[in-house]
Amino acid sequence: MATPASSIPRHVAIIMDGNGRWAKDRGLPRIKGHEQGAEAVRECVEGCGDLKIEFLTLYAFSAENWQRPKAEVFALMHLLERFLKEKTQELFDKNVRLQAIGRLTDLPPSCQKQLHKSIERTSGNNGLTLILALSYGSRLEIIDGVKDLLREVQAGHIDSAMIDVEMFSKHLYTRYYPDPDLLIRTSGEMRLSNFLLWQLSYTEIYVTPKLWPDFTRQDLFAAVEDYGQRQRRYGLVCSD
Ligand code: IPE
Ligand code: IPE
Ligand code: MG
Repeated sequence: MATPASSIPRHVAIIMDGNGRWAKDRGLPRIKGHEQGAEAVRECVEGCGDLKIEFLTLYAFSAENWQRPKAEVFALMHLLERFLKEKTQELFDKNVRLQAIGRLTDLPPSCQKQLHKSIERTSGNNGLTLILALSYGSRLEIIDGVKDLLREVQAGHIDSAMIDVEMFSKHLYTRYYPDPDLLIRTSGEMRLSNFLLWQLSYTEIYVTPKLWPDFTRQDLFAAVEDYGQRQRRYGLVCSD
């Protein structure tokens, strides 16, 4: 399949959902779905590289996901650490720069250590920026941002009257990245599940019924092609 010729989003964000259902459909334990999901990440990263997408944010573990059964959480953390250990060299070779957003200090210490190692190892790369959202919750992020700003006001560094959209954006975990242009959610759910609530204000949304482990490069291209047909208006009147 040819890659779409029309406009390519600069930043794609994905809610990688449906791992559990993928496993259930096959009579397998949920963790098998997560393992297969990690394989789909690899193909997606390659696809983004092919399309010259600049930023890819993957919702890998939400702040709410800590409330899942202990065994699943433990297995997911183990899988994350293994993924980073095994794939960092490959990411490096593909010129990918790894980053992470979320309350990273909530992750198990060995996971944090590996994450920082992987981030450090790829920090000089200038191809795709791959941002993993880990222990990420948008409401927490907004509260953290508000607290940050309050401290700066109390310290007298800024006047509260100076706070505007741009300044607030600079106090979010995503301060270094542009807002996503395209949001993809797999497994057909029509909700944001506490993902990038502020940043997705004008993002184009694409929902596919495919479960995340079945999501292929072709599916990514189809989403990007669909995005290319959209007319983004940002509340303005369209000219044609
Ligand atoms: C997404 O798949 C992965 C994580 C949330 C970690 P799910 O585990 O939510 O899969 P479903 O939604 O139960 O099928
Ligand atoms: C969102 O999926 C979180 C991730 C994909 C990491 P969930 O499966 O946790 O979301 P809900 O429970 O369907 O809203
Ligand atoms: Mg789910």
